Amino acid sequence: MRKSLAGRVPQSTGSRGFFAGAIGGTLFQCHGIQERVAIRTAVFGCPLVGINIKNLQRGHMPKKDKNIATNRGQVSAQPRLHQRAAEIQGYGTVSHMLPLDLEEPVRLEMTEQLNLLLADTMTLRDLYKKSHWQVSGPTFYQLHLLFDKHYGEQVEIVDTIAERIQLLGGVSLAMAADVAETTRIERPPRGREEVPVQISRLIDAHQIIIGIAARWPDAPPNSVTTAPTIWW
Ligand SMILES: [Fe+2]
Repeated sequence: MRKSLAGRVPQSTGSRGFFAGAIGGTLFQCHGIQERVAIRTAVFGCPLVGINIKNLQRGHMPKKDKNIATNRGQVSAQPRLHQRAAEIQGYGTVSHMLPLDLEEPVRLEMTEQLNLLLADTMTLRDLYKKSHWQVSGPTFYQLHLLFDKHYGEQVEIVDTIAERIQLLGGVSLAMAADVAETTRIERPPRGREEVPVQISRLIDAHQIIIGIAARWPDAPPNSVTTAPTIWW
């Protein structure tokens, strides 16, 4: 029988005693078992599968326990695939307990507006990639490179806006279908358009984003809402 860290012998008090002892600092020195419990908790979310608590308290190693051997089939190293569960935070909400001076209604308004900006910026990003792929004609090579350069810059802006939303306690838009429902930029056709039309669509998209951001009150320099950042 092993002693606890506090120098006492753990008493067999059932699972409640185990948790009370662990929480109260009387950790049982069953070398190897605590690590297994921690790993099972992290991987499976269930620390006690396959572990006999009474034997754990008595300091028995699980390999010698018949019950453990019997229950071994319940624990699997295989990942649990195809899991589904309820959302842990709904879209359009903000976390309550953030150490920010901004009140919740303010953060709600900010995250809502930033998500609109995010949807437009993601659309502009994809419009650049569409133009990069579909451009044709005598200026193909130069425009092919230029469109991809701007695509890369929009990727960085998208990430900045999305992470700003998360920092404010909100939930960022992410998926294409949600972006398509939200953006204010006109949807282009799937097919190829001539170069002047491609460029015209890109300019229109920039103007929509700049126009919206410019209406935001008192945006500080270099914030994600100011024109220099968007134009980059
Ligand atoms: Fe490419």
